[in-house]
Order: sequence, then structure tokens, then C-alpha cells
Amino acid sequence: MRNVTKDNITEVFKSYLSKDMEPRTREVMSALVQHLHDFARETNLSHDEWRKGIDFLEGCAAIETEERHEFVLAADVLGLSSLVDMLHSREDATSSSVLGPFHVSGAPPLEVGGDMKRDFDGIVLLAEGVIRDTDGNPIAGAELDIWQTAPNGLYASQDDAQDMYSFHGLMTVGEDGRYAFTTAKPVEYTIPSDGPVGDILRACGRHPWRPSHLHFIVKAPGYRTLVTEIFPDDDPYLDEDTVFGVREDLVMTYHEKAPEDFPEGMALSGKVDVPFLAVDFDVILAKA
Ligand code: BEZ
Ligand code: FE
Repeated sequence: MRNVTKDNITEVFKSYLSKDMEPRTREVMSALVQHLHDFARETNLSHDEWRKGIDFLEGCAAIETEERHEFVLAADVLGLSSLVDMLHSREDATSSSVLGPFHVSGAPPLEVGGDMKRDFDGIVLLAEGVIRDTDGNPIAGAELDIWQTAPNGLYASQDDAQDMYSFHGLMTVGEDGRYAFTTAKPVEYTIPSDGPVGDILRACGRHPWRPSHLHFIVKAPGYRTLVTEIFPDDDPYLDEDTVFGVREDLVMTYHEKAPEDFPEGMALSGKVDVPFLAVDFDVILAKA
């Protein structure tokens, strides 16, 4: 009989793994348990602390629904979602960033030049740019799925006062690869903190704020789908995003413009009579 001790239990675990198991599963499970055991040894984890961890997982499971993804949120605030993004981001393309829990599939089509602001409050933001390949050529027919919060800091799915798809749109760009739309300037907002993830933030003395941003999923045949978001350079939370989503190349600058500079050919042309903000941001897709 082999005696299981606190020093050899990790090796014993590995010896239980079947020789026939799928090699990548073996690699991931071995490393996961190695790190879990090392963590317990290093911190001399107590029974109460182990129980707290189990309570946290059970608490996440208890509130998990189609709309509430507490486990994903946990991975987000621990930096794991962003780390996985960065491990697989392509150097020569626009960086990816966290998807978050508020993307809604099936957004209504938004014309190039269309408007998402409608009657909502807030400063008009004109966002435009070109979807390009890594050689700088426009990608004709690329699809841009756009979403953001309303000016009250809530996504449509969190807010009964909004319809299901407000501040969501699906744009297909033309031959020139150019996207353009108007919206309300995004605001900084707090991630849901009324569940177990909020308890972790409070225990760590952390705040739940994210810098304001526009979310994009960009797709084109033959290219890697890009999930990303872009952030204005003057946002107070830029250096302290609670989900670690900010990357240098995703930071953009808003330019304030006079109403007479509002371009022709947009849904809001002729309707903007106060200064507005404009941003030009090209998105680069890597080949699949
Ligand atoms: C978001 O940007 O929508 C988001 C991302 C991660 C966690 C919560 C919200
Ligand atoms: Fe967001």
C-alpha cells in the first residue's frame, strides 16, 4: 500500500490518471491539480477557508441563469478571462477583450451611417472607422455587432425601461470596409455586485467600476472573429478596470466637433444642432 501524504498527494493524483486519456485533458487536469494543491500547501488553507470557497461556488451556481452568468463574472474580476484573451490575441491585429455578459444575439440590422441614440439623453457620439486586414486593405462585407449601455449605465437586458435591443446593432460594411454610426456617448458603469462576485470585490477592497466603452464583435469570412471593446482615453477608470479589459491599442480619442461639421449621409445629418463627439477607430482582423 502506498501511504498518501500531504507531500505526495499531487503525484498520487497524477498516477490515478488513465494512460488512455486525451493528452490535452491530461495536461490541463495535471496542471490544475498541481496548482490547487500547491495553493493549499502554500497558504496552509484551513477547513473554514476551504468551506468559504465551496460556499462561493455554490452561491454562483444558485444565481446562475440565462441572464446572470456569475461564474463568468468571477473569471472576469479575477483577471482570468482577460489573461486567456491575451494569451490568444494576435500581435498584428486589434486586441481582443472581454465579451461580458450583456451581449444579445440577433440585434437588429443597423445601416452604415445609422443611429442607435434615438431619443435617449447624452452627447451624440459619431463612431466610424475601417475594418482592415493586417496589410491595411479594407475587408468588404465584414459584419460589426455593436452594443453598449444606455446613458443610465444599464444594458438593455438589465433595464425594463429599454427595449430588448436598444443600444445594440448589427452593421454590414460595404466595399470600402467603412463602418459609421451615431450613438449616445457611453458612460462608465458598475458590474453586477449584488452576488458572490460582489462579496469578493468588497473583501478585496475593490470597486466594481468599468471605464466607458463600446463593444464590438467583428466577423468576416476567412478571418478570426474578434471580440473587443474600445475605450476613450479620458475615462477616469481607464487604469482600474475591474475586469482588466483595457489594452493600449483599444484606447481611442474623442474629438469635439461643431454641429456644422456633422457629415452628410448619416441618419442624424441635419438634426444635430449642438457640439458632438467623433472618433475614428480602425479595426484590424487577422486571417483565420
Ligand atoms: C461588460 O463590459 O459588459 C462586462 C464585462 C465583464 C463583466 C461585466 C460586464
Ligand atoms: Fe460593457
